[in-house]
Amino acid sequence: MTCIVFDWVRVFQVRIYALLFLCIGIALVYGLLGFASAKNRHLDSTGCQTCHLAGNAVTANNAHQLIDTQERLCKGCHVDALAVSHPSGFQAGRLLPAEYPVDWKGDLTCSSCHLVHGDNPGLMRGNKRGKELCLSCHEIEFFYQMADGGVSVLNGVHLAQPPKDSFIEILDSYSQHCMSCHYENVREVSGVILAHSQTTMPHPVGVQYNVSGKEKYHELDSLSEKITLPDGQLSCISCHQAYDEKHGELVMSNKGSALCFQCHNI
Ligand code: HEC
Ligand code: HEC
Ligand code: HEC
Ligand code: HEC
Ligand code: HEC
Ligand code: HEC
Ligand code: HEC
Repeated sequence: MTCIVFDWVRVFQVRIYALLFLCIGIALVYGLLGFASAKNRHLDSTGCQTCHLAGNAVTANNAHQLIDTQERLCKGCHVDALAVSHPSGFQAGRLLPAEYPVDWKGDLTCSSCHLVHGDNPGLMRGNKRGKELCLSCHEIEFFYQMADGGVSVLNGVHLAQPPKDSFIEILDSYSQHCMSCHYENVREVSGVILAHSQTTMPHPVGVQYNVSGKEKYHELDSLSEKITLPDGQLSCISCHQAYDEKHGELVMSNKGSALCFQCHNI
């Protein structure tokens, strides 16, 4: 009897090992496939002519001749990378390190920081990350003069990802980012989050803009482009800049309540 039990245990063990090897095998195959596709991102998913004027005849010499600006070419697939991010597609107006080249028009653009056909994670140029990356183009004083000492931007170029410790999950990732530092100014009343009740008038965030009584608010498509409503919701970044030299500055002047009247139709 004990012998049979022992045998069953052995059979079970063998099966477990077989299963384990199978799992490792599958993981390896997936890993290699993943690596292969990671190597060819932007090369196999779309034809070269989607971006290069020369199409399949693209060479290192004509690769800079693109059919549109990179900001517009990339936006189709990477909307988040263009919202609330470091500026891209502008004349730098000063010499930048050779490690981060401007394009043929002298603009700092996506490919200044990214190797579009690279094979490293994030497709970054060079080894610098975080603060070190920022300081390769900026003096530290540039950040020190900001109201928050630059802390809210120094870790990222694109702010779409929510912070690691989500503060209030129902809010958009940008508001969560702000609240990771500005939580003391926030309270909740009947399920509605009110922003900065301490020294400035409280205002709801995290509610849909267009479901609230239309006649009291301007039509969504008539709002200024400066007002961002992530997933249609009121957010800190509907009224405040999130990636700016002047930390926390309003998206437009509120002189004579001009910002308020962008949305409120009294
Ligand atoms: C999503 C847009 C996009 C697609 C699709 C694309 N490229 Fe590119 N490619 C770029 C950009 C942007 C650059 C950088 C241009 C610059 O430096 O001004 C680039 C640069 C290059 C370069 C110069 C060397 C380098 O790696 O920077 C070569 C060669 C190249 N591409 C080949 C190709 C080939 C071959 C294909 C098709 C199999 C292709 N590209 C598809 C956007 C694209
Ligand atoms: C000043 C350097 C810089 C510029 C300019 C830049 N990026 Fe990035 N990008 C980064 C860094 C650094 C990361 C890693 C994540 C982070 O820091 O936010 C990144 C991450 C990304 C990612 C990964 C997902 C994400 O959103 O984090 C995509 C996609 C991307 N960039 C696309 C773009 C596109 C498209 C442009 C041009 C419109 C662009 N980047 C311009 C530095 C840059
Ligand atoms: C046709 C769609 C498409 C276009 C256009 C496109 N990409 Fe991508 N891109 C992808 C895909 C798919 C991936 C792989 C996604 C992943 O690994 O999460 C990727 C990955 C990336 C990454 C790395 C993200 C990471 O987390 O590792 C960067 C950076 C990036 N793209 C930049 C650009 C830039 C810059 C342009 C414009 C020149 C561009 N992409 C145009 C589809 C596109
Ligand atoms: C490749 C060079 C380069 C890198 C890398 C870079 N920047 Fe910039 N950045 C610039 C240039 C050029 C400007 C335009 C103003 C100027 O010349 O300082 C600018 C502008 C800015 C602005 C002002 C945006 C506005 O509209 O008010 C901020 C904020 C900023 N950078 C933050 C950062 C942070 C944070 C990092 C690192 C995550 C970083 N930068 C990395 C070149 C760079
Ligand atoms: C890393 C922490 C941090 C993050 C993230 C952060 N802030 Fe701040 N912020 C500060 C500090 C520190 C100050 C200066 C002290 C103060 O006024 O509380 C400040 C000040 C401000 C001010 C007052 C500016 C002034 O000139 O008096 C506003 C407005 C503001 N932040 C809005 C925001 C918004 C909106 C976001 C999100 C897009 C945000 N902050 C994200 C730390 C942060
Ligand atoms: C409906 C517009 C609006 C929204 C949404 C909004 N704010 Fe404000 N905020 C303002 C105005 C207006 C001021 C006053 C600024 C001034 O007078 O320069 C202000 C001031 C501030 C200040 C400085 C004064 C204070 O009370 O400490 C901080 C910090 C701040 N906001 C953070 C936030 C954060 C964080 C969020 C998101 C949770 C947010 N705001 C959402 C309009 C808004
Ligand atoms: C981005 C658009 C937007 C801006 C800018 C804005 N509001 Fe609002 N506001 C709204 C919406 C939408 C609501 C209704 C939220 C809800 O459904 O509870 C609201 C609600 C309010 C409320 C709550 C009471 C009520 O009637 O629902 C007050 C008070 C208020 N806003 C005042 C202001 C003031 C003052 C300003 C300028 C500093 C301002 N708002 C700027 C969109 C905006």
